[in-house]
Formats: sequence, structure tokens, C-alpha cells
Amino acid sequence: VRILAVTNIKGGVGKTTTAVNLAYLSAAGGCATLLWDLDSQGGATYALRGEAQEHASAKRLLAGKVELPELILASGYPGLDLLPADFSYRNFALHLARRRHPTERLLKMSRALRDIYGALFLDCPAGISLLSENVLRAADVVIVPLVPTPLSLRMLVQLCDFIADEGWSDLTLLPFFSMVDRRRSLHQELIATARAQFPMILETEVPYWSEIERMSVRRAPLPACAPRSDAARIYTALWAEIRKRIEPGRRGPALASRGEHDAVPRRRVRGAARGFDPHSR
Ligand SMILES: Nc1ncnc2c1ncn2[C@@H]1O[C@H](COP(=O)(O)OP(=O)(O)OP(=O)(O)O)[C@@H](O)[C@H]1O
Ligand SMILES: [Mg+2]
Repeated sequence: VRILAVTNIKGGVGKTTTAVNLAYLSAAGGCATLLWDLDSQGGATYALRGEAQEHASAKRLLAGKVELPELILASGYPGLDLLPADFSYRNFALHLARRRHPTERLLKMSRALRDIYGALFLDCPAGISLLSENVLRAADVVIVPLVPTPLSLRMLVQLCDFIADEGWSDLTLLPFFSMVDRRRSLHQELIATARAQFPMILETEVPYWSEIERMSVRRAPLPACAPRSDAARIYTALWAEIRKRIEPGRRGPALASRGEHDAVPRRRVRGAARGFDPHSR
């Protein structure tokens, strides 16, 4: 199973919207896909009209009292399943911290899904925690929606440095610009600067459109509820570009710009985890 995490330290940048649309498109393309909502706000669960199950709780899950496959729901869309979040997920990091090898739990848990799915999407909460470190350790692909602000670019530098420091050269980092308003000259300037510095940023830009915002009311992926809309077209283009980048034999410029391309992959090996602290640099 290929694990694709949609993540950003920043909140409200379009992570959930992206995860729901891309997971839908992955499934529609014929790949058995699971979307795991890791955010106690339950945005992805809500968007797919899912309900958390009574016996599910982050504590029981992390203690191994329930197994991931027991909690999976059908989304109603062919090939797409959902692992819903509930309010107990707010303590996910806390429960992780109590386990042995706390930074590897998610990777270990995802092994139960290995033979069932071709793609596992993770919709991550904003912020930095033991959970985000688990996500980075487990993921094959990290999709980062970036709003064009100086702080977003700073975060991207820090994320690149963290991945390089850990030696995770097998991780494909795919940032893209989200909520873009091309009429704003500051957005244009920041995008140009960022593209010069980070060649791995995807070409596709997701504009700030009310049509996209409306997805939260419609509670359905855009390519499902408005297949001919511009919004659906944008996410289809984004997914096509991501697929092209992650095709076997095509790693893309992942960390190339930072000269970390030939580090030995050793992500699956336990190491002294330093933690990803954006304020430490
Ligand atoms: N491209 C866009 N244009 C306009 N509105 C958008 C766009 N993408 C997302 N939104 C809206 O912005 C809000 C935040 O989006 P979303 O929930 O996807 O972000 P998030 O990063 O997952 O947030 P959180 O950090 O709270 O989980 C939602 O109301 C959503 O409908
Ligand atoms: Mg979200």
C-alpha cells in the first residue's frame, strides 16, 4: 500500500479538501483506496458523511484492542473506504507517547491494511506532534498544500531540512499552492520566489474559489458532485500530476534542490528521533 499524507503545520490551508478529492480520484481510477481521517475535528469524516463507531477510540486503537480493519466504513463511492475520526483523536499523540517505539506506531498499524488497499490517504490535523512525526515516518508521499505566505515557505524549508536530517530520501515531498488568488501581486511574487527555490512544487495551483469552499456544504468530493466544474478539473489535474511524479522509476525532483538526493534510504530503521520542531532553527 502506498501511503499518501496530506499535511501542513498550518490550519485551514485546504488539507481536508485535498485529501477527500484526491482519495476519491484515486479510487475512481481503479485503485482500492482508504482515507484515514486523523483529525479529531473529523473534517474528512464529515465530508464523506461518515460516522465514527462506538467502539472506536484512539486509546483502544493504539493499545491494539481494536484493529484498523474493524473500523473501516464504505464511503458509498466505488473503491473508496473511510476510517473515520472521532473526538478521542484529540489525544492521539498522547496515546502514541505511551507506546513503545512511539514514532513508528502508525507505520506498524498500517501494515494491517497492506493487502487490502493500493492507496492509503492520511488527512492530518494541523500542528506538530508525535502524530505528525508518525505520519512523516509512515508516508511514501507527503502532499503539502501551501498558501502563498512567507511563513508557509519558511515551514517548507524546515520540513525539507527535517526530512534531509532524518535521511528519508525515499520520501517524496509534493507541495502545491492552495487558495491562490492570482490577482494579488503578493501571491504572484511569493509563488515565483518559491518556485525558483523549490523545483518540487507542483505546477497545478488550486485557486481560492467559492465553488471549492462549497464542498463543505455539499459533503461530497467535487469530481463526484460536480464532475464538469472547474473545481473538479483542478483536482483532477492535481491528481494527474501527482501520479506522474510517483510513478515507479520517476522520483521527481523531491529533495534535489537541497542536494540530498543520494542519501541512503533508512527511514524504516529505528533511529534516534529528534522530533520536528519548527521553532528550533
Ligand atoms: N481552494 C479553496 N478555495 C476556497 N475555499 C477553500 C479552498 N480549499 C478549502 N477551502 C475552504 O477553507 C476551509 C478550510 O479548508 P480545509 O478544511 O480543507 O483545510 P484544512 O487545512 O484541512 O483545515 P484544518 O487545519 O482545520 O484541518 C473550508 O471551509 C474549505 O471549504
Ligand atoms: Mg482538515
